[in-house]
Amino acid sequence: MYNPRQERYHQMSYRRCGASGIRLPGISLGLWHNFGGVDSLENGRAILRRAFDLGVTHIDLANNYGPPYGSAEQTFGRLLKLDLAPYRDELIISTKAGYDMWPGPYGDWGSRKYLLASLDQSLRRTGLEYVDIFYHHRPDPETPLEETMGALDQAVRSGKALYAGVSNYNPAETAQAVAILRRLGTPCLIHQFAYSMFRRAPESGLLHTLASEGVGGIAFSPLAQGLLTERYLDGIPADSRAARPNAYLKRQDVDETRVAKARALARLAKARGQSLAQMSLAWVLRHAAVTSALVGASRVDQLEQNIAALEKLDFSGEELAGIEGILAG
Ligand SMILES: NC(=O)c1ccc[n+]([C@@H]2O[C@H](COP(=O)([O-])OP(=O)(O)OC[C@H]3O[C@@H](n4cnc5c(N)ncnc54)[C@H](OP(=O)(O)O)[C@@H]3O)[C@@H](O)[C@H]2O)c1
Repeated sequence: MYNPRQERYHQMSYRRCGASGIRLPGISLGLWHNFGGVDSLENGRAILRRAFDLGVTHIDLANNYGPPYGSAEQTFGRLLKLDLAPYRDELIISTKAGYDMWPGPYGDWGSRKYLLASLDQSLRRTGLEYVDIFYHHRPDPETPLEETMGALDQAVRSGKALYAGVSNYNPAETAQAVAILRRLGTPCLIHQFAYSMFRRAPESGLLHTLASEGVGGIAFSPLAQGLLTERYLDGIPADSRAARPNAYLKRQDVDETRVAKARALARLAKARGQSLAQMSLAWVLRHAAVTSALVGASRVDQLEQNIAALEKLDFSGEELAGIEGILAG
């Protein structure tokens, strides 16, 4: 039987999610990789338990995480039943719909039909009565935004989700979505976007939009899927994501330019008393509009190292300039 650590809330810092009543942990855990049907249940179980023991109250899912699609939600459902069910009220569980999920015209993009059917499927797979956050996973250029946001509003009104969020929306799409949701009476809680030292698009408008609209922000792949850690400094390890067949991170993404930058950044991190992974997380969290850094982990020790990033979040002007110099090089 699992007995979570009594002290689990002592060290984690919680940051307010926009103008809402919710605070999220500085580090959240995503189950995109390592929790699929192809992965070890016991390893996933160890990671999830350790996360909860260290105060990580937010777990992120999507309908199609696996592989196969849906299996990360099933794994989470099994682990919830085994370990975490008594602590449901201490957890913020999110899921999403918006990418390819099932065949035919109703299993992708942003229709009301797809979103609401997908949410019902997610609840069945996880065994949850409700999710805390239901996201539209990506903008759909062909469906009226009113229809997609109407589906999120309906999800919340039906009690199947507590809050609504959007993901991968650009600043203009975000502002429109936020306005529609506000009109409907279901405020947009959070936006989930890619942000790391290697992917800086949110700095050109999105972070500003979120701050001015009072919407929280959660940065996904803040470690650039492992490129902004020490994982690839000496080649591509056989057990790494880049070596996995069909991973989104390809061997060719681990190129000389990125590895040289990671090496220089790792030296700078060391001078700050951090690992490169830790500095990469502190770097995305330096913006007030970033509520949480959403990491993945294939091992318990990675997660522990990443959570310890919260012990040092401040940067000197010189350090920030040093990072800019390396990234520009
Ligand atoms: N909304 C969206 O469209 C979207 C898209 C992508 C992701 N997400 C969400 O964001 C979450 C995180 O994405 P991500 O997994 O790409 O994030 P990430 O934190 O950038 O990358 C995680 C990977 O980096 C490696 N790693 C992590 N910590 C490490 C450490 N301390 N030292 C060395 N290597 C380390 C591990 O890879 P190895 O396997 O090599 O050990 C780990 O699986 C996902 O689970 C999902 O919830 C959302």
